[in-house]
Amino acid sequence: MENERLVDATIKDEQEISLRPQTIAEYIGQSMAKENLKIYLQAATLRGEALDHVLLYGPPGLGKTTLAYVIANEMKANIKVVTGPAIEKTGDLAAILASLNAGDVLFIDEIHRLPKVVEEVLYSAMEDYTLNVVIGKDVQARSIRIDLPPFTLVGATTRVGSISSPLRDRFGIILKLEFYDIPEICQIIRRTSKVFETTIAEDAIKELGARSRGTPRIANRLFRRIRDFATIKNKGIIDNEITKYSLEALKVDPLGLDKLDYSYLETLIKRFQGGPVGIEAISSALQEESATLEDVCEPFLLQIGFINRTNRGRVATQKAFEHLKIDYLNSFFQS
Ligand code: ADE
Repeated sequence: MENERLVDATIKDEQEISLRPQTIAEYIGQSMAKENLKIYLQAATLRGEALDHVLLYGPPGLGKTTLAYVIANEMKANIKVVTGPAIEKTGDLAAILASLNAGDVLFIDEIHRLPKVVEEVLYSAMEDYTLNVVIGKDVQARSIRIDLPPFTLVGATTRVGSISSPLRDRFGIILKLEFYDIPEICQIIRRTSKVFETTIAEDAIKELGARSRGTPRIANRLFRRIRDFATIKNKGIIDNEITKYSLEALKVDPLGLDKLDYSYLETLIKRFQGGPVGIEAISSALQEESATLEDVCEPFLLQIGFINRTNRGRVATQKAFEHLKIDYLNSFFQS
């Protein structure tokens, strides 16, 4: 296991909170999601209603939680933050729902990991703001109905395919977050440098931007490590040279790939002749959980066109062979 992967966007950082934009105007990128969301926010505000329930999906680290906070702030509402797996019993969810005030935002991260029984309680809560709970056992069991104030559920998931259709259908607004392009990531790095009151040279911003896998969480984390290197080795000056030196030391390659990506690609190419091969085979060869590979490595490798997912399994593209300096054509004539 590689728990300390610098480019693992699934691990959240405390400092991330101070970097969060508060308003939709400050939120960089995700123009598709943002433009639509702006309309829904304005319309709900004008009508004085709670915003419809929102499902945010996309790879880790792209700002789903940040967007949930922005939504609450824009609606001038309070936000309650929980994660799917932490709500173990229906009673846990009932307690959370019963504590909400009119217009509040309930943010459930990793909503695909909500236990089934809990998910079922959510249906009526989402649909008509009612809570149906069973109290007592066996012959004494009876169902009671509690009215809830109108609220907005914001659910986030890295795996939209793992959400049951009854749950998915109850979200009026479904937004997909995409990887950021390099200019957008550079804008986020500039913003971070202002928040940290640290100057960073423009060419260093571009270097870091290119190596952050289109993911703000990774850009911000690498920024802090580069700042450490600059403090100790470069009198605190973040120039291109110290940036390249730090990223080299952190084993982040020019495209943002790290050791786990290399192991993944090498396994796929050398051990399985470039595929097609199932994710479980790659996972056991690498001794790494398939969920980690699917959620962390693959989305970016797909995005940059290094792998394809086919119905017979994963395939490495010629681009991946070339990046690893492995002869593409010759590989088909070796066993
Ligand atoms: N920090 C993380 N994601 C961000 C975004 N989309 N805009 C501004 N700052 C961010």
